[in-house]
Amino acid sequence: MTLTEAPPRRHFLSLADLSPDEVRAVLDAATAIRTGELRPDLNGRSLVLLLEKPSLRTRVSFELGMRKMGGHSLSMLPQEVGLGGREPPEDVARVLSRYADVIAARVNSHDTLVALANAADVPVINALSDIEHPCQILADLQAIREHFGTLEGLAIAFIGDGNNVAASLALGCALVGATLRIASPVGYELPGNIVAQATRLAGQEGNVPQLFVKPEDAVEGADVVYTDVWASMGQEAEREQRARDFRGYQINPHLMELADPKAVFMHDLPAHEGEEISEGMLTHPQSIVFNQAENRMHAQAALIATLLGAIPSAS
Ligand code: CP
Ligand code: NVA
Repeated sequence: MTLTEAPPRRHFLSLADLSPDEVRAVLDAATAIRTGELRPDLNGRSLVLLLEKPSLRTRVSFELGMRKMGGHSLSMLPQEVGLGGREPPEDVARVLSRYADVIAARVNSHDTLVALANAADVPVINALSDIEHPCQILADLQAIREHFGTLEGLAIAFIGDGNNVAASLALGCALVGATLRIASPVGYELPGNIVAQATRLAGQEGNVPQLFVKPEDAVEGADVVYTDVWASMGQEAEREQRARDFRGYQINPHLMELADPKAVFMHDLPAHEGEEISEGMLTHPQSIVFNQAENRMHAQAALIATLLGAIPSAS
C-alpha cells in the first residue's frame, strides 16, 4: 500500500480525537500490520519526536515503526529543543512543519501540545502529556481485542492513580463499548471532566465509567486488571507520600483471584515491583504486558499511516 494524497491535517492529542469507527479502523490496521497482512509504505515521509521526559517504548516504537514503513524519524531530547524556553512551541511547530510530515511530542504540560497543534501544518501526536497517553491506550485496546476477540461488553478494572493513562483508558473504553471500573484512593480520582467526557461518549450504551475506592470492588469479575505507576514522571517528589496513600492498591495474585478466571493483567510500563505490583506480576501467566508493549509499534504505525493517508479505507 503506498501513500497517495495526504488527507486534511488531523491531530491526535486525545483518544477522543478519533470516532468509534476510526478507533476500530486503526485497531484493524494495527493488527493487520502486526500479522504482516498490511504493510503501509510511507515513501520517505518523516516524523520528529520531541521529548520533554524520558522514554523507552515510545521512542523506540516511533523510531523503528517509521523505518519499517519506509519513513524516517528523529528524536529530540529535552535539552536539545528547550520547548517554551529557548523557543515557543508555536515557532517550533512552524519550523518542524517545513521539515517533517508528522510531529509527535511527550510534554510536561498538555498546553504545550495544544500550542504545537495550533501552529503546526502537519499532524501532531500526543506521545504522553500530563492529561493523556492516547498512543498507549490504542496499543492496549489492540492487545485486549487480540486476546478476547472483542472489546464490546468487557469490564476493564484500573487500580490506582486517575492519571494520564487512566484518562485515555476511560475515553477509550467509552468509545469501544467496554466499561471502565476504576478504583483510586480519595484525592487521586479520575478528573471530573474526563468522567463527564467518557460518560458523554458512552452515550446510550450504558458503559459509563464506574468509580470505586476499594480495589476489590473494581476488580470483582473483571475481564482486565490494569495498573500504572503511583508517581508519574514529574511527580518524583511526591513518591513517598503517594506510596503511603496508595498502600492497599497493589495488583498481586491474591487481587487477581477476584477477577474473572480468564482475566488478563496489564501495565503500560515502566513498572515498580513492591509498589503498584507484586514481584513477578509482569511475567504472571495472566499478564499480557509485553503484548501491550509490542503493540505500541503496530498501533502507532497504523495511526501514522492513517493520518498520512497511507491506509485509504481508514482515512
Ligand atoms: N509506556 C510508555 O509510554 O513507556 P515509555 O515511557 O518508556 O515510552
Ligand atoms: N503515568 C505514567 C505513564 C508512563 C508511561 C507517567 O506519566 O509517567
